[in-house]
Amino acid sequence: MSPESRKFSKVDAIIRNHDSKPSHLVAILQEIQAEYRYLPEEVLTYVATALGIPAATVYGVSTFYTQFSMNPKGKYIIKVCNGTACHVKGSEKIKYLVQKELGLNDKKNTTDDLQFTLETVSCIGACGLAPAVMVNDNEVHGQMTPEAMEIVLKDIKSRKDTTEAAAAGKEN
Ligand code: FES
Repeated sequence: MSPESRKFSKVDAIIRNHDSKPSHLVAILQEIQAEYRYLPEEVLTYVATALGIPAATVYGVSTFYTQFSMNPKGKYIIKVCNGTACHVKGSEKIKYLVQKELGLNDKKNTTDDLQFTLETVSCIGACGLAPAVMVNDNEVHGQMTPEAMEIVLKDIKSRKDTTEAAAAGKEN
């Protein structure tokens, strides 16, 4: 195995599962993003070579779909809904609270320690709970206020501390 394919062994496994079919490019990129939390540039070039298609095609697909990110994302992705129902119920205030607490702004949406990414989305299908926030696509928080959001952030940070403490405990 060449050093390069060793480095990309997870990517290779994903490509193999799709029989190296260029027609599976979107699914392949989705799985790679799930693995890395974004699409690193060097991986895109590697995928193009492995599938035998132009790098421009792979870049084109990865920039066309908003689901793909070329920048690293945090471990916790906080989606503040800014759809109509959430907007009229004050979602902007929730967004500002998250930005303030995490040192983010409209240009910088991921913390330097890669723990958090803040996104605004158009509707997460929980309009009855507006304003709503989703964490990592599996945790919905409804009827949010800045105060409630502060508590959610504290809770997530304590989870991080617990996970790290457990990992440190294992190392000792
Ligand atoms: S508008 Fe926010 S959940 Fe639908």
